[in-house]
Amino acid sequence: MKDGASTVAPTECPAWAKLAAHAEGWHEARLAELFAGDPRRGAQFAARAPGLQLDFSRQRIGALGLRLLERLAAERGFADWRRALYAGEAVNSTESRPAHHTALRARDAAPAEVKQALARMRELAQGLGDIRRIVHLGTGGSDLGPRLLVDALGQGSRLEVRFAANIDPLDLARALHGADPASTLVVAVSKTFTTQETLANARAAKAWLGGRGRLYAVTANEAVARAFGAAEVLPMWDWVGGRFSVWSAVSFSALAALGAATFDELLAGANDMDRHFYDAPLEQNVPALMALIGVWNVNFLGATSHCVVPYVHALRLLPSYLQQLEMESNGKRVDREGRAVDYATAPVLWGGEGTVSQHSFHQLLHQGTQTVPVDFIVAGVSAELDAHAEAQSRALAFGTADRVLPAHRTYPGNRPSSTLRLEKLDARHLGRLLAAYEHKVFTQGIIWNINSFDQWGVELGKRLADDILKKGS
Ligand code: F6P
Repeated sequence: MKDGASTVAPTECPAWAKLAAHAEGWHEARLAELFAGDPRRGAQFAARAPGLQLDFSRQRIGALGLRLLERLAAERGFADWRRALYAGEAVNSTESRPAHHTALRARDAAPAEVKQALARMRELAQGLGDIRRIVHLGTGGSDLGPRLLVDALGQGSRLEVRFAANIDPLDLARALHGADPASTLVVAVSKTFTTQETLANARAAKAWLGGRGRLYAVTANEAVARAFGAAEVLPMWDWVGGRFSVWSAVSFSALAALGAATFDELLAGANDMDRHFYDAPLEQNVPALMALIGVWNVNFLGATSHCVVPYVHALRLLPSYLQQLEMESNGKRVDREGRAVDYATAPVLWGGEGTVSQHSFHQLLHQGTQTVPVDFIVAGVSAELDAHAEAQSRALAFGTADRVLPAHRTYPGNRPSSTLRLEKLDARHLGRLLAAYEHKVFTQGIIWNINSFDQWGVELGKRLADDILKKGS
């Protein structure tokens, strides 16, 4: 990461001080007045990527703020960091590894090992003849991605895929319930093949199979998986982070259920977004704008959480997927130079599917004491869904300022949101959407000068649990 890729604290960048000064005037800015003052705001504060549009006109930001954010990105050496990411350089500094998930969907330009793994996935999927159910065992990035793919795209598949991620035996019991071992494939997915939850479930599932059915593994630890009894082992690589691995053999279960053609469409969508993210100028770059607006809300307007509400039932698992992607990547307190940071990094990410969420947490969004920026996601599924999403965004932005109401019925408004409009929800658009969030996370990590690709914070809990189990308390 030579060139301009900076690991100076962002607070030392000239643009940071300018943004802090600029923000002083924006704490009281009213969205209603911004729109009244600029009839073209709705059209201007938007950007397009393949198959999706980002409407950020209801964010509390103006043209100067955007330019200062773009300047901050430039001062961080964003373009050089992006080049390093795409080139497979060791951007994961504490583990001296690349984070080369873009190579997984590079199509003809993909490394030979990626092409070989994809070919093997297709071959194994075609050879599942008598299998009726796949039981996918994994957790974190070895579960959330394939689970999302199957839930979002798997309607009508002749193969049933069930998932077990928890060490609670009930999870596996539910995944196995009603299955015949002879027509069941168990897939144990673990990059390390040491994750306690996954191994406990794999041992119990292997006993349940009793030598019938099939047991495959997806791991970077082939020898251990074969010794465990896996008949087939698909690869995982240390240059792909778990939360960035949905594009790899981690999703073998999903490819088997959805079909290779659908999985190829997913990869193509991610590749579309990779090219957009690399080529589009910052002011039209959807992932970069998502990132910079998030930095503006968190570091300059004081937001501490970020809510994602897909008005698409097929994306009901997206908030859970993004929780790992965003908070395991950027929930960090130490920068690339090993210094404790004195500025905010990742906000708490949460959310739920609309319209269901309107009957759960929208009260807080509209009338709570915290301002929570929201990403609404729509895909033209129905006029009703899109109308509800627009209504919620509009109520958050403009409230009831135009009416005299008792205090308890007043909506303050001025609550920011963006809307991501997908042309439709299919594999290609889902690939584009997930890749957009991956690149948003990467961009924010560059702004915050943190390593988005390690996760040392999950180790202590694992060790303490082992100690407790060994000592009985
Ligand atoms: O949560 C920690 C973590 O290492 C994640 O990064 C990873 O996706 C998950 O656990 C599962 O790890 P493995 O694939 O090695 O079982």
